[in-house]
Amino acid sequence: MRQLLLAGLLVMCGCTTPHVKESPDRSLETRWDAITDILGAKVRQTIDQCSDSLRYPRSTSSDGTWRTVEIRDWTSGFFPGILWYMHELTGEKTFEQSARRWTEGLTPLQWYAGSHDVGFMVFCSFGNGYRLTHDESYKAVILQAARTLATRFNPTVGCIKSWNNPKWDFPVIIDNMMNLELLFWASQNGGTQDMYAIAVRHAETTMRNHFRPDGSTYHVLDYDTGSGRVISRVTHQGYADNSCWARGQAWALYGFTMSYRFTRDPRFLETARKAADYFLDHLPPDHVPYWDFNAPDIPDEPRDASAGAVAASGLLELCGYIDDAPARERYFQAGIAILESLSAPPYLMAKSSVPGILQHSVGNKPGGGEVDVSLIYGDYYYIESLLRHRRLTAHDAAQNAR
Ligand code: GLY
Repeated sequence: MRQLLLAGLLVMCGCTTPHVKESPDRSLETRWDAITDILGAKVRQTIDQCSDSLRYPRSTSSDGTWRTVEIRDWTSGFFPGILWYMHELTGEKTFEQSARRWTEGLTPLQWYAGSHDVGFMVFCSFGNGYRLTHDESYKAVILQAARTLATRFNPTVGCIKSWNNPKWDFPVIIDNMMNLELLFWASQNGGTQDMYAIAVRHAETTMRNHFRPDGSTYHVLDYDTGSGRVISRVTHQGYADNSCWARGQAWALYGFTMSYRFTRDPRFLETARKAADYFLDHLPPDHVPYWDFNAPDIPDEPRDASAGAVAASGLLELCGYIDDAPARERYFQAGIAILESLSAPPYLMAKSSVPGILQHSVGNKPGGGEVDVSLIYGDYYYIESLLRHRRLTAHDAAQNAR
């Protein structure tokens, strides 16, 4: 049965079928309708609460309402992406109508060269919209956004510059791996070979410089623009320069898995596994990480459910690329375990009236903001993980019915 489950995921990711066995935990499936109802109610609540689509929900305030941001905030693409995922999950036309409205509000971002995050902003919104509708106007926006992102690449450094912040010369954050999906996809869908080459080079440089020998990652590397040498390895959102910020590690896991999907470069798969192994070896018993794996007051530190959601989604893809059966099984079970945990209290609260889906995430603890809140990107990757899980089980059910 497991073999069939993974075959479904592999079709989705365009890979070959591995040899696997044993059946997975089915408890998510038995609660599927209840979970979908909770998601539907919360997303409809967000649509009502954020009726001004010039501003986008980012994180919840202490009273539980959404704090909203303008379209240039790095998080603007996630709510449109959630609406596309809800349309995919439920088939409800109203979600598609809202998804179109919220996605199209981001059209000017295709020209926005002020941050590497144009990848998140445009690919989560227009990328999902194009995947589900094949609307050619969406594809044009994606291709232009990829051209814009490519302008931030510096061949001497071998990376895309993350932020324009005078505190650093040429900062590159581990999160930047996620923005490569826009370039990889565009290069294979009407874009240029240069886009592919830039994405590969960025991943290679990150693989070389962002990892410690134990598989944990630094958050920010500052490069010298002129020579390309590393000036410093520091943190911005983690506990300390030498600690491992949980969401950064999840971005690494997911980002290198995605890079392997497009390139089939075994070095990227190896790097994704290194990131995953560190992440899994440092989880608490409920499988949801503390906000930093080295935070000083564990177990009295806040969890970061968003890091769990990113990692769960990445693991459900990663397991499909692994030939070694025990390792494949470990990644698959770990992805399901995180998802199971997130799908129950205290992370998913059925009776809660707040519109955020996952409770207990941390945006930027050292910055004093968004501690123990709902984050829109946590919700986005949580729903993506559920969809990945459903594709596996739907494929399994279809095979068993034959
Ligand atoms: N990419 C910014 C963050 O993960 O908080």
